[in-house]
Amino acid sequence: MVPPFLCEAVRRLLLDITSRENFKYSTMKRWFVNHGTPTARLDEGEVSEIEVASEEQSAPSRCVTLGVDVSAHPAPIIVRLSHLAIPDLMRIETESSPTPWSMRLFEEEFRISHAVVLGARSGGELTGFAVYHHVADEFHLLNIAVERQSRRKGIATALMEEIVRTADASGVAAVTLEVRATNNGAQSLYRRFGFIEVGVRQGYYSDNDEDAVLLTREFRI
Ligand SMILES: CC(C)(COP(=O)(O)OP(=O)(O)OC[C@H]1O[C@@H](n2cnc3c(N)ncnc32)[C@H](O)[C@@H]1OP(=O)(O)O)[C@@H](O)C(=O)NCCC(=O)NCCS
Repeated sequence: MVPPFLCEAVRRLLLDITSRENFKYSTMKRWFVNHGTPTARLDEGEVSEIEVASEEQSAPSRCVTLGVDVSAHPAPIIVRLSHLAIPDLMRIETESSPTPWSMRLFEEEFRISHAVVLGARSGGELTGFAVYHHVADEFHLLNIAVERQSRRKGIATALMEEIVRTADASGVAAVTLEVRATNNGAQSLYRRFGFIEVGVRQGYYSDNDEDAVLLTREFRI
C-alpha cells in the first residue's frame, strides 16, 4: 500500500514503477536514488514536503524519515495484474478456499473487459489478490484472498482500500459481495469498510450448503 499521505503525483509514480512485470524492490531503491525528482507537496501529514533522493545522496533519507523506504520495510503495494500472475494467483487461491477457482476461471477473468484483478505485492512477491467486476453502477467483489503466512498484516485491508477508493472515484452507487455465513474474519474486514448486511442466500455454497450473507457498501443514492 502506498502510504496515504503521499501526494497523488508521487503515488502515481510509485504505482507506475511497481506495476511493471519485472519490478523488484531493488528497482524501487535504485529509482529513489537515481532520480533527482523535484520536491512534491503532500496532501496530509506533519511534513509538508517530500524530497526524492538525488544521485549524490547515498540513501533516500527523507523517504526513510517518512517511512516509504519500502526496501527496508515492505508494505503491500496494490497493482493491477496481468494473466502472467495466474500461477501465483492459483497458489494463493488453493490454500485459501475450500472450492478454489480453476486456472480456466482466472484466465476468463483476464478476458472479461469489466473484470479487474488486483494484486498486493509485498517484498516483490504476490501475497494477496482481489477480483471485482464493474457492471453498470456497481462493483461486485468476487474474490479476495491473502496467502496464509501473510495474514493479519493489513494486506486485505490495502486491497479493500484501493477498491473502495476506486469505486468512490468512479461514481458507482455501491460495492456488493457475498460471504460465507461462518466466515467471521472476512465479515469483520468488510464491516470495517462500512459494508452492511442486506440479505441471505440460503444454501448458496454447494460444497456444504452454507448460506451466503449479502453485504453492500453504498456510496450515493
Ligand atoms: C479474509 C482474508 C482475505 C483477510 O486477509 P488479511 O490480509 O489477513 O486481513 P487484514 O490483515 O487486512 O485484516 C483486517 C481486519 O479484518 C479482520 N480480520 C481479518 N482476518 C480475521 C480473522 N481470521 N479473524 C478475525 N478477524 C479478522 C480484523 O478486524 C483485522 O484487523 P486486525 O488484524 O487489526 O484485528 C484472509 O484471511 C483470507 O485470505 N482468507 C481466506 C479467503 C477468504 O475467506 N476470503 C474472503 C472471501 S469472501
